[in-house]
Amino acid sequence: MTLRHFLRDDDLTHEEQTLILERATHLKSAPFENRALAGPEVVAVLFDKPTLRTQLSFSAAIAHLGGYPMVVDGNLAQVGVRETIADVARVLGRQAVAVVWRTYGQDRIEEMAEYAQVPVINALTDDFHPCQILADLQTIQENRGALPGQTLAYVGDGANNMAHSYLLGGTLAGMHVRIGTPQSHQPKPEILARAQELAAQHGGSVLVTDDPMEAVTGADAVATDTWVSMGQETEKAQRQGEASPFARFQVTSALMSHAAADALFLHCLPAYRGFEVSAEVIDGPQSVVFEESENRLHAQKAVLSWLVEQHRAEDRP
Ligand code: NVA
Repeated sequence: MTLRHFLRDDDLTHEEQTLILERATHLKSAPFENRALAGPEVVAVLFDKPTLRTQLSFSAAIAHLGGYPMVVDGNLAQVGVRETIADVARVLGRQAVAVVWRTYGQDRIEEMAEYAQVPVINALTDDFHPCQILADLQTIQENRGALPGQTLAYVGDGANNMAHSYLLGGTLAGMHVRIGTPQSHQPKPEILARAQELAAQHGGSVLVTDDPMEAVTGADAVATDTWVSMGQETEKAQRQGEASPFARFQVTSALMSHAAADALFLHCLPAYRGFEVSAEVIDGPQSVVFEESENRLHAQKAVLSWLVEQHRAEDRP
């Protein structure tokens, strides 16, 4: 057995994802039942990019599990600048039982995982946001039942972390994942290929289209995300301006009317009303965005406690 991490959605098997979602649902009704971090053990939580939900939900999750969150502002730590990622990893791994990191390149978190010798969790990178997808899957399951066979449509920037994580996490769950995005912002080919492979294994499918209506037609859940992800601030005028390539992809009531009549609307937040979504949709009856943000807590408690337990089991002779 090797040390397990959660760096991308498909670091879990289908069975493990199912189990973690079950654990998340259970912990939602019994918040203090799992004390995997009793001691309190320390979890290092580092942020190289802005945060609100993630800092809150990981801090609460770690506290509920009996542990202590050591939250580090990346501007102070300057991981990879002041010292190497490998050195930081080896320092953290000797005092923390897990590392949670929000950063830029996926290669950075992979390097952290290589050297930390404790489980590492991706709290968002440029390529993936797997904790958010667990929370979203939990939200869909709670509101619409078993995930396999359901259709999840994501409309907007098809090249960002949310699109990539929906592709992997959704197909791992056996869902039909559709991405509505302009030709100029297609998902990374290797991630798309991996999603197609997962879809074939678990009974789902993948569709990438530049027609937003085709993406959402009949969907059980419609999701979107900001057109300007963290790290893309210099492109803001181009991405949100009059000639935005995403203008046709705004989630409006008219677009939602093509989805299932009782389809859910999802958004990881922060949201920009009037850009990727109209106020009417995000503030309307189909929106479950605050359930999603609450489920970050439950889903992260589930994945964190599970990884720590796996690691302990592996350490035993
Ligand atoms: N795609 C967004 C997600 C924010 C939670 C970003 O990376 O900024």
